Amino acid sequence: YEWNEIALNLAKDIEREIMPLFGQKKAGKFIGFSPSGDKTKLVDKMAEDIVLEYLKPLGVNIISEEIGSINNENEYCVIVDPIDGSFNFIHGIPVFGFSFAVFKGYEPLYAMLYEFITKNVYEGIPNEGAYLNGEMIRTRPLNEDSISISFYTRNRGAKLVEKVRRTRVLGAIAIELAYLARGSLDGVIDIRNYVRPTDIAAGYIIAKEAGAIITDDEGRELKFNLNASEKLNIIAVNDEKLLKLILENI
Ligand code: IPD
Ligand code: CA
Ligand code: CA
Repeated sequence: YEWNEIALNLAKDIEREIMPLFGQKKAGKFIGFSPSGDKTKLVDKMAEDIVLEYLKPLGVNIISEEIGSINNENEYCVIVDPIDGSFNFIHGIPVFGFSFAVFKGYEPLYAMLYEFITKNVYEGIPNEGAYLNGEMIRTRPLNEDSISISFYTRNRGAKLVEKVRRTRVLGAIAIELAYLARGSLDGVIDIRNYVRPTDIAAGYIIAKEAGAIITDDEGRELKFNLNASEKLNIIAVNDEKLLKLILENI
Protein backbone atom coordinates (compact mmCIF):
# COMPACT_ATOMS: atom_id res chain seq x y z
CA TYR A 1 0.00 0.00 0.00
CA GLU A 2 1.06 3.59 -0.65
CA TRP A 3 -0.16 4.84 2.70
CA ASN A 4 0.86 8.45 2.11
CA GLU A 5 -1.15 8.57 -1.11
CA ILE A 6 -4.15 6.91 0.51
CA ALA A 7 -4.06 9.32 3.44
CA LEU A 8 -3.64 12.43 1.30
CA ASN A 9 -6.39 11.44 -1.13
CA LEU A 10 -8.70 10.85 1.80
CA ALA A 11 -7.80 14.16 3.42
CA LYS A 12 -8.52 16.02 0.18
CA ASP A 13 -11.83 14.20 -0.38
CA ILE A 14 -12.94 15.02 3.16
CA GLU A 15 -11.83 18.62 2.72
CA ARG A 16 -13.89 19.04 -0.44
CA GLU A 17 -17.03 17.66 1.23
CA ILE A 18 -16.88 19.34 4.60
CA MET A 19 -15.31 22.77 4.10
CA PRO A 20 -18.51 24.33 2.72
CA LEU A 21 -20.01 23.63 6.17
CA PHE A 22 -17.20 25.29 8.18
CA GLY A 23 -18.65 27.46 10.92
CA GLN A 24 -22.22 26.48 10.12
CA LYS A 25 -24.67 25.40 12.75
CA LYS A 26 -26.11 22.59 10.65
CA ALA A 27 -22.69 20.87 10.69
CA GLY A 28 -23.42 20.20 14.37
CA LYS A 29 -26.69 18.35 13.85
CA PHE A 30 -26.85 15.43 16.30
CA ILE A 31 -26.57 12.02 14.64
CA GLY A 32 -25.97 9.56 17.48
CA PHE A 33 -23.42 8.43 20.06
CA SER A 34 -19.88 7.19 19.37
CA PRO A 35 -18.36 4.09 21.08
CA SER A 36 -16.67 6.36 23.65
CA GLY A 37 -19.98 8.04 24.50
CA ASP A 38 -19.30 11.29 22.61
CA LYS A 39 -21.95 12.82 20.36
CA THR A 40 -21.51 12.21 16.64
CA LYS A 41 -22.37 15.33 14.67
CA LEU A 42 -23.29 15.66 11.00
CA VAL A 43 -19.80 16.74 9.97
CA ASP A 44 -18.23 13.78 11.84
CA LYS A 45 -20.53 11.39 10.00
CA MET A 46 -19.91 13.00 6.59
CA ALA A 47 -16.16 12.75 7.04
CA GLU A 48 -16.26 9.21 8.40
CA ASP A 49 -18.47 7.96 5.57
CA ILE A 50 -15.78 9.08 3.12
CA VAL A 51 -13.12 7.26 5.14
CA LEU A 52 -15.14 4.03 5.21
CA GLU A 53 -16.03 4.17 1.54
CA TYR A 54 -12.34 4.54 0.74
CA LEU A 55 -10.84 2.04 3.18
CA LYS A 56 -13.40 -0.77 3.17
CA PRO A 57 -12.43 -2.04 -0.31
CA LEU A 58 -8.80 -2.38 0.90
CA GLY A 59 -9.85 -5.11 3.34
CA VAL A 60 -7.80 -3.64 6.19
CA ASN A 61 -8.95 -3.43 9.80
CA ILE A 62 -10.42 0.00 10.50
CA ILE A 63 -10.84 1.86 13.75
CA SER A 64 -12.62 5.15 13.46
CA GLU A 65 -13.89 7.52 16.14
CA GLU A 66 -17.61 7.39 15.40
CA ILE A 67 -18.20 3.77 14.34
CA GLY A 68 -15.54 2.00 16.41
CA SER A 69 -13.83 -1.12 15.02
CA ILE A 70 -14.21 -3.08 11.81
CA ASN A 71 -12.16 -6.25 12.16
CA ASN A 72 -11.31 -7.92 8.86
CA GLU A 73 -8.62 -10.19 10.35
CA ASN A 74 -6.15 -8.19 8.24
CA GLU A 75 -2.50 -7.59 9.22
CA TYR A 76 -2.94 -3.85 8.76
CA CYS A 77 -5.00 -1.65 11.02
CA VAL A 78 -5.85 1.93 10.09
CA ILE A 79 -6.88 4.09 13.03
CA VAL A 80 -8.61 7.29 12.04
CA ASP A 81 -10.19 10.37 13.49
CA PRO A 82 -12.00 11.80 10.45
CA ILE A 83 -12.14 15.22 12.13
CA ASP A 84 -10.33 16.02 15.32
CA GLY A 85 -11.71 19.29 16.61
CA SER A 86 -15.33 19.06 15.48
CA PHE A 87 -16.45 21.66 18.02
CA ASN A 88 -13.96 24.08 16.46
CA PHE A 89 -15.15 23.21 12.96
CA ILE A 90 -18.83 23.71 13.78
CA HIS A 91 -18.19 27.00 15.60
CA GLY A 92 -15.85 28.51 13.05
CA ILE A 93 -12.62 28.13 15.03
CA PRO A 94 -9.94 27.25 12.47
CA VAL A 95 -8.08 24.49 14.35
CA PHE A 96 -9.12 21.00 13.28
CA GLY A 97 -7.67 18.18 11.25
CA PHE A 98 -7.75 14.69 9.83
CA SER A 99 -5.83 12.03 11.74
CA PHE A 100 -4.67 8.81 10.06
CA ALA A 101 -2.33 6.15 11.43
CA VAL A 102 -1.45 2.69 10.17
CA PHE A 103 -0.25 -0.21 12.27
CA LYS A 104 1.01 -3.58 11.09
CA GLY A 105 -0.01 -5.84 13.92
CA TYR A 106 0.95 -3.63 16.87
CA GLU A 107 3.86 -1.90 15.09
CA PRO A 108 3.28 1.66 13.91
CA LEU A 109 3.97 1.98 10.20
CA TYR A 110 2.84 5.43 9.06
CA ALA A 111 1.00 8.51 10.33
CA MET A 112 -0.47 11.60 8.72
CA LEU A 113 -2.21 14.65 10.16
CA TYR A 114 -3.80 17.06 7.75
CA GLU A 115 -4.71 20.51 8.97
CA PHE A 116 -7.53 21.73 6.75
CA ILE A 117 -7.20 25.49 7.13
CA THR A 118 -3.42 25.80 6.71
CA LYS A 119 -3.30 22.77 4.36
CA ASN A 120 -0.26 21.57 6.28
CA VAL A 121 0.59 17.88 5.96
CA TYR A 122 2.39 16.32 8.93
CA GLU A 123 3.78 12.82 8.57
CA GLY A 124 5.52 10.39 10.85
CA ILE A 125 7.52 7.41 9.65
CA PRO A 126 8.66 5.18 12.51
CA ASN A 127 12.45 5.07 12.95
CA GLU A 128 12.88 7.54 10.14
CA GLY A 129 11.47 10.88 11.18
CA ALA A 130 8.65 13.40 11.21
CA TYR A 131 7.89 15.78 8.37
CA LEU A 132 5.93 18.94 7.68
CA ASN A 133 5.14 19.26 3.96
CA GLY A 134 8.07 16.95 3.24
CA GLU A 135 10.64 18.81 5.37
CA MET A 136 11.97 17.10 8.46
CA ILE A 137 10.77 18.59 11.76
CA ARG A 138 12.03 18.31 15.35
CA THR A 139 10.71 19.41 18.71
CA ARG A 140 12.37 22.60 19.92
CA PRO A 141 14.92 22.78 22.75
CA LEU A 142 13.31 23.71 26.06
CA ASN A 143 13.84 27.25 27.34
CA GLU A 144 12.87 26.98 31.00
CA ASP A 145 12.07 30.71 31.21
CA SER A 146 9.59 30.57 28.38
CA ILE A 147 7.57 27.37 28.45
CA SER A 148 4.44 27.07 26.29
CA ILE A 149 2.04 24.21 26.84
CA SER A 150 -1.40 23.01 25.90
CA PHE A 151 -2.99 21.75 29.10
CA TYR A 152 -6.37 20.04 29.39
CA THR A 153 -7.34 19.44 32.99
CA ARG A 154 -10.19 19.39 35.47
CA ASN A 155 -9.35 20.56 39.00
CA ARG A 156 -5.80 19.16 38.87
CA GLY A 157 -2.55 20.99 38.25
CA ALA A 158 -3.45 24.63 38.92
CA LYS A 159 0.15 25.08 40.15
CA LEU A 160 1.49 24.02 36.78
CA VAL A 161 -0.18 26.92 35.02
CA GLU A 162 1.75 29.34 37.26
CA LYS A 163 5.07 27.73 36.36
CA VAL A 164 4.86 28.20 32.60
CA ARG A 165 4.83 31.33 30.43
CA ARG A 166 1.95 30.40 28.11
CA THR A 167 -1.00 28.05 28.10
CA ARG A 168 -2.80 27.41 24.81
CA VAL A 169 -5.71 24.98 24.77
CA LEU A 170 -6.69 24.71 21.13
CA GLY A 171 -9.38 22.03 21.09
CA ALA A 172 -7.83 19.53 18.69
CA ILE A 173 -5.25 17.42 20.48
CA ALA A 174 -4.10 15.68 17.29
CA ILE A 175 -3.12 19.05 15.83
CA GLU A 176 -1.58 20.20 19.10
CA LEU A 177 0.69 17.13 19.05
CA ALA A 178 1.78 18.21 15.57
CA TYR A 179 2.57 21.67 16.96
CA LEU A 180 4.74 20.01 19.60
CA ALA A 181 6.46 18.00 16.84
CA ARG A 182 7.28 21.13 14.83
CA GLY A 183 8.54 23.06 17.84
CA SER A 184 5.64 25.46 18.32
CA LEU A 185 4.74 24.13 21.78
CA ASP A 186 6.91 22.55 24.50
CA GLY A 187 4.24 20.23 25.83
CA VAL A 188 0.76 18.84 25.28
CA ILE A 189 -1.01 17.50 28.35
CA ASP A 190 -4.45 16.02 28.87
CA ILE A 191 -5.07 14.59 32.33
CA ARG A 192 -8.88 14.44 32.21
CA ASN A 193 -8.87 10.69 31.52
CA TYR A 194 -10.70 11.51 28.32
CA VAL A 195 -8.43 11.22 25.27
CA ARG A 196 -9.00 8.14 23.10
CA PRO A 197 -6.55 6.21 20.89
CA THR A 198 -8.31 7.61 17.82
CA ASP A 199 -7.51 11.18 18.97
CA ILE A 200 -3.80 10.60 19.43
CA ALA A 201 -2.58 7.64 17.33
CA ALA A 202 -1.18 9.73 14.47
CA GLY A 203 -0.07 12.63 16.68
CA TYR A 204 1.72 10.18 18.95
CA ILE A 205 3.77 8.73 16.08
CA ILE A 206 4.57 12.14 14.60
CA ALA A 207 5.55 13.76 17.92
CA LYS A 208 7.62 10.73 18.92
CA GLU A 209 9.51 10.73 15.63
CA ALA A 210 10.19 14.44 16.11
CA GLY A 211 11.84 13.68 19.45
CA ALA A 212 9.01 14.03 21.98
CA ILE A 213 8.79 12.05 25.21
CA ILE A 214 5.26 10.70 25.68
CA THR A 215 3.99 9.28 28.97
CA ASP A 216 0.85 8.73 31.03
CA ASP A 217 0.08 10.99 34.02
CA GLU A 218 2.60 9.11 36.18
CA GLY A 219 5.51 9.47 33.83
CA ARG A 220 5.36 5.92 32.51
CA GLU A 221 5.76 5.38 28.79
CA LEU A 222 2.30 5.80 27.24
CA LYS A 223 0.71 2.55 26.08
CA PHE A 224 -2.62 2.32 24.31
CA ASN A 225 -4.63 -0.32 22.51
CA LEU A 226 -6.02 0.10 19.04
CA ASN A 227 -9.64 0.96 19.73
CA ALA A 228 -12.03 3.91 19.76
CA SER A 229 -13.22 3.77 23.34
CA GLU A 230 -10.38 3.50 25.85
CA LYS A 231 -9.80 6.68 27.90
CA LEU A 232 -6.25 7.89 28.41
CA ASN A 233 -4.14 10.53 30.08
CA ILE A 234 -1.23 11.89 28.07
CA ILE A 235 1.83 14.01 28.75
CA ALA A 236 3.90 14.75 25.64
CA VAL A 237 6.95 17.01 26.02
CA ASN A 238 10.17 18.05 24.34
CA ASP A 239 12.40 17.59 27.40
CA GLU A 240 12.78 15.40 30.53
CA LYS A 241 13.02 18.56 32.66
CA LEU A 242 9.58 19.67 31.57
CA LEU A 243 8.20 16.18 32.23
CA LYS A 244 9.58 16.39 35.78
CA LEU A 245 8.09 19.86 36.31
CA ILE A 246 4.69 18.62 35.12
CA LEU A 247 4.74 15.48 37.27
CA GLU A 248 5.64 17.54 40.33
CA ASN A 249 2.77 19.96 39.77
CA ILE A 250 -0.23 17.85 38.78
C1 IPD B 1 -11.71 16.25 20.61
C2 IPD B 1 -10.38 16.94 20.50
C3 IPD B 1 -10.10 17.83 21.69
C4 IPD B 1 -10.27 17.12 22.97
C5 IPD B 1 -11.59 16.41 23.04
C6 IPD B 1 -11.81 15.50 21.87
P1 IPD B 1 -13.17 15.40 18.54
O1 IPD B 1 -11.89 15.34 19.54
O2 IPD B 1 -9.32 16.03 20.40
O3 IPD B 1 -8.79 18.29 21.68
O4 IPD B 1 -10.19 18.04 24.02
O5 IPD B 1 -11.58 15.67 24.20
O6 IPD B 1 -13.09 14.91 21.98
O7 IPD B 1 -14.34 14.95 19.34
O8 IPD B 1 -13.29 16.80 18.07
O9 IPD B 1 -12.77 14.43 17.51
CA1 CA C 1 -10.93 13.39 18.25
CA1 CA D 1 -13.50 13.30 15.80
